[in-house]
Amino acid sequence: MAAGLVPLDAETSEATPSRLVRDWVRVLDQWETGAVSERRVAKINTGPLVHLVYWEPRIPQNTGAAIRLAAVSGAHLHLVEPLGFELDDTRLRRAGLDYHDLALVTVHADHDQLWRTLGTRRVFAFTAQAERWHTDVAYEHGDVLLFGPEPTGLPAEVLADPHITDQLRIPMVPGRRSLNLSNATAVAAYEVGRQLGFPGAR
Ligand SMILES: C[S@@+](CC[C@H](N)C(=O)[O-])C[C@H]1O[C@@H](n2cnc3c(N)ncnc32)[C@H](O)[C@@H]1O
Repeated sequence: MAAGLVPLDAETSEATPSRLVRDWVRVLDQWETGAVSERRVAKINTGPLVHLVYWEPRIPQNTGAAIRLAAVSGAHLHLVEPLGFELDDTRLRRAGLDYHDLALVTVHADHDQLWRTLGTRRVFAFTAQAERWHTDVAYEHGDVLLFGPEPTGLPAEVLADPHITDQLRIPMVPGRRSLNLSNATAVAAYEVGRQLGFPGAR
């Protein structure tokens, strides 16, 4: 396993709980002083705020950017094989800068392993063909955002999978095909963070 990647049981490992405890203490301190609402505290749960899934990604730079995004946002990034690159690809490492060791990343051998790991979480599939805007969902802690491969997008059978809660679109001006994968991921992940009050971030 490449450096910076963590095994499937990472959420029970040392690194994540200690960070969560710190976040909790900070938010509870703010709550005591009235600086944060009860509603915001109630939204804070255990585990990463959001799970980002890359379904068979092809371009190493996009996954590198997603690793950096996971590190700075506290999201858990899941990569579903086959990948279009090796995990030690220099282009992936360069795009992720020195954030690889700070990111929670799990590689799944196939989609069965992904669905088993995610359990009963809500899964939102991102596709430029959807009708509903990504800003129209009331996100919950632990929601899953699923993104398709470059350049084809999510296959029809994945979009029809019963694990998918809904399909979402990031609005674009007419006549444009799609956003870059890592840009779409950042837009979506930060909408979840914005709605849930960026717990633990400053
Ligand atoms: C480069 S795009 C793939 C483009 C592909 N032609 C399509 O229409 O889905 C890679 C991924 O980014 C996400 N994406 C890009 N633009 C999007 C948008 N406007 N709304 C929702 N998802 C988008 C989707 O998950 C997509 O599968």
